[in-house]
Amino acid sequence: MKTIKTDVVIVGSGLAALYAAVKLSEKKKVVLLTKDKWQASNSFLAQGGIAAAYDKDDDWHVQLEDALRAGRYHNNIQETAYLAKESKHTVDTLMQMGMVFDHDEDGRISLAREGGHSAARVLHAGGDATGRELTTFVKSRLNWHVPIDEYTQVFDLIVTNGRCAGVWAKNKNGETIVYEARDTVLATGGCGHIYAPTSAHPAVTGDGLAIAYRAGAALKDMEFVQFHPTLLIKNGKVYGLVSEAVRGEGARLINEDGRRLLAGKHPLEDLAPRDVVTRELFKAQRTGLAKQVYLDISMIDRFSEHFPTIARLCEEAGIDLDGGRIPVSPGAHFLMGGIATGHSGRTTLPGLYAIGEAACTGVHGANRIASHSLLEAITYAATMSQNIIQEEKIPVHTAVPDLRPATLRLPSKKAIQRMMFQNVGIVRTEASLTRAVDWCQSWGIDFGEAGNLDVTKDEAERLNMLTVAWLIASSALERTESRGGHTRIDFPEETDEWRQKCITREVNHVESH
Ligand code: SIN
Repeated sequence: MKTIKTDVVIVGSGLAALYAAVKLSEKKKVVLLTKDKWQASNSFLAQGGIAAAYDKDDDWHVQLEDALRAGRYHNNIQETAYLAKESKHTVDTLMQMGMVFDHDEDGRISLAREGGHSAARVLHAGGDATGRELTTFVKSRLNWHVPIDEYTQVFDLIVTNGRCAGVWAKNKNGETIVYEARDTVLATGGCGHIYAPTSAHPAVTGDGLAIAYRAGAALKDMEFVQFHPTLLIKNGKVYGLVSEAVRGEGARLINEDGRRLLAGKHPLEDLAPRDVVTRELFKAQRTGLAKQVYLDISMIDRFSEHFPTIARLCEEAGIDLDGGRIPVSPGAHFLMGGIATGHSGRTTLPGLYAIGEAACTGVHGANRIASHSLLEAITYAATMSQNIIQEEKIPVHTAVPDLRPATLRLPSKKAIQRMMFQNVGIVRTEASLTRAVDWCQSWGIDFGEAGNLDVTKDEAERLNMLTVAWLIASSALERTESRGGHTRIDFPEETDEWRQKCITREVNHVESH
């Protein structure tokens, strides 16, 4: 087994991973591992931008209040305040590094409206290609000597004497490699692909979450999953996201008869926080008010110029933008929970850090406000890097992992995705969650003990997906209230009429195996 020694190993290649690599490599020897090509991340796909109280009439206190309201007051207030207060500085730092955000005709930074925000405060780059522009820019600032080992899949952490001492992985040729490191950073993103439909990149299968869990690190708030209201879905095929920024420019959610679906439902109407909009669309679909939901974009001039990525997705889907309507439906988008961390990115396992969507700093509460994910990625990659650079040096004792041959009985990815959307989706009940937990357990795997198994890359991914599905379903079963991204219709905030309709229509079929 080959061993590579480094100071810090970063797992993932999204914005948090890349920014941490830039910062850490100023002082440390860093290796970055990713199981696919480096662009395979949700950060790269992100259309929405970075929220910052940038306008002279805006105030970070208002941004904070908006984030707490959207997060249904489940947030870690101290960290959410830090994120909002730092947001202008975070953007300024990026611009000092050379990042260019979109400007208006007068040369001022363009600030857009997105869901949950009471002011125009979202910066974009390349219109709706902020994620691609930002990740490419940050990567360009990474010193050429920092290796990015692509197509290298991490299977498990190496824990010796109660401390994380690196990871073991399989490279593109299937060779096992030990990465011995004093500090290990999980920046593997969320777990969108345990659901279908989802806006997530197919590589986002919850690997870091499952790996951390197996190594004994604490996870929290796993029941809070955000479903974005507007995925472009036609004939059952998901083409991608239609950014909230489109509604920020005036687009409205309507049914096939042109009836507005969010009018009068929330003070911010179509720009209400995502959990509110998603529930309203789900309700409209389930009660027959909307056979098909559309975004009415007829009022947006030069749509393709403003939103080139979305225009391209529409073209792929055969949608004529001159018709002024884009068919949309909700899908899994973001995990508010994750590996429990604090300001420094430290987890409960010494030597292990987590940042980005894989981490739960508490800044998103029960429902993330728009354009706080790229902001969080940069902010906490910076605080963590500073912490790692300053910390006391502790010698690491690595051991070669004792790999165990295993024959696992695992469901297909499709079966997991279908089961999760049906039972642990936009609305949940005790019955649906119990079914989900039982289904996950029926595969006979002790999820906490399934470490260091010598299985294939595909088996490892499916094991991770099943583990995270079980973690989300079990956490959701325990939370007997409705809050943000976790809607229990048996513990409702909604009217009895709505509750009744949902319960009678509840899906009771679980894929058998
Ligand atoms: C969007 O553009 O609607 C998504 C942005 C985000 O996830 O905050």
